[in-house]
Amino acid sequence: MPQPPDTETVLVIDFGAQYTQLIARRIRECHVFCEIIPADTPAEQIARRQPKGIVLSGGPASVYEPNAPRADMGIYQLGIPVLGICYGHQLMSYQLGGVVEPSERREYGRTELTVIEPEDPLFADFGTRLTCWMSHGDKVLQPPPGFQVTAVTESTPVAAMADPARRFYGVQFHPEVHHTPFGKQLIDRFLKRVCGCRGDWTPGNFVEQAAEEIRRQVGDGHVLVAVSGGVDSMTVAALVYRAIGGERLTCVFVDHGLLRAGEAEQVRETFSRLFPVHLVYVDARERFLERLKGVEDPEQKRKIIGETFIRVFEEHADELRGCEYLAQGTLYPDVIESGATKHSATIKTHHNVGGLPPDMRLKVIEPLRYLFKDEVRAVAAELGLPEEVVWRQPFPGPGLAVRIAGEVTPERLEMVRAADKIVLEEIWRAGLMREIWQSFAVLPAVRSVGVMGDQRTYAHPIVVRAVVSEDAMTADWARLPYEVLERISNRIVGEVPGVNRVLYDITSKPPATIEWE
Ligand code: XMP
Repeated sequence: MPQPPDTETVLVIDFGAQYTQLIARRIRECHVFCEIIPADTPAEQIARRQPKGIVLSGGPASVYEPNAPRADMGIYQLGIPVLGICYGHQLMSYQLGGVVEPSERREYGRTELTVIEPEDPLFADFGTRLTCWMSHGDKVLQPPPGFQVTAVTESTPVAAMADPARRFYGVQFHPEVHHTPFGKQLIDRFLKRVCGCRGDWTPGNFVEQAAEEIRRQVGDGHVLVAVSGGVDSMTVAALVYRAIGGERLTCVFVDHGLLRAGEAEQVRETFSRLFPVHLVYVDARERFLERLKGVEDPEQKRKIIGETFIRVFEEHADELRGCEYLAQGTLYPDVIESGATKHSATIKTHHNVGGLPPDMRLKVIEPLRYLFKDEVRAVAAELGLPEEVVWRQPFPGPGLAVRIAGEVTPERLEMVRAADKIVLEEIWRAGLMREIWQSFAVLPAVRSVGVMGDQRTYAHPIVVRAVVSEDAMTADWARLPYEVLERISNRIVGEVPGVNRVLYDITSKPPATIEWE
């Protein structure tokens, strides 16, 4: 994958740890660009990228297993600083001649670390007693020649090691997780003190580089952006506008009637205010509802919505025909999860609108493909998008249809939309929108008895779901303050006709998913 031009880069070699993405995020938070690359990347290929540093990630294997992933030995000859983390620490020890002890017993959780080389550039001024997060079985018993032990724990004799001359460092613990309080600073020190990074990967610099890249990619071609109302596609539209102006940019917005309250109006308003761009607005609300009539199965609903999108695009193909490029809001986690770091041909052409007609043959450009969600928000703010867009929560392409159990009818849609609006308003009012990944209302397919005034009711419950997450792969239910939950509950029951009960979903992902369908 080509890196953005003129950017200092750190490469993270992935040995399959669940925390590898977190390492990349922490590096980006230090304003250094990084990419995750597969374990078997040849050293020559790494050398061509001229990285400022290399990080060896953790991983579930044991270095002595016959099929354990190994870094190309050539990386240790490049004169580039290396930081090994957990499995990466063990692997570097093993590959450079240290002794690693295989073990069935795990050291897991918060662990006290004793620094024995207080002058070490990674640990200087931290004090000698620190708390770190451990999660490993095997351990390094003896560092390779040239290394000195810099920190120990009660059961790990080489909890950290350093070879300052070659600029090689290894840590057995996980600096990338929040449970290692000094971890982010340690990573920052590796990047700045050891690798000599400037740390100038900022949203402003990204915008200029990305605009330049878009101009180079599309030449004098026309670009189509399918906007969904979410922050990713709006940021793509704003970025392409910044790069080539409005004359050669067409945006299409299909209103499938399954959006959140006020969303369609906001997309149109933002467009007319911020960029004088041709927006093809397609009001397909009735059509989608008609197609969803009588359909209860979640998969069937998704399929119908995806297909209907394609039909709608086909019918508007003439208006879109002049475009040669499709710019879409693929993010870095999509690239990683689709295995694109391993096989660059298989990048997921995933986007919210459910697909374009196959005969349109558009060349895809993905200006946000290097970014994590929080970086997209920073870029969106840099581009002047309003706060409501910048902090808009992720929203599934099939929209409210997957938040209504059973058939989607206008009445049920209205109910869930009105409840959803209240949930979001209260989250904003409580100032929680930056902490909450997603918060919304779900309408399950049951009814229960209640009493309102003197009347017995037999009406619907609304389930409130609010989660915290870094990337939607895993999520935890948000510990919302009781007062916020109370206001949400009172308002929903008081303001949404047909609802007599409010429940709060306290399940994490896994085992549940974020959405209900
Ligand atoms: P789950 O429910 O699988 O969702 O935990 C993970 C994230 O993906 C979003 N999501 C979708 N996004 N099309 C999308 O564009 C979809 O069909 C879809 N289904 C779920 C969900 O909102 C969450 O952010």
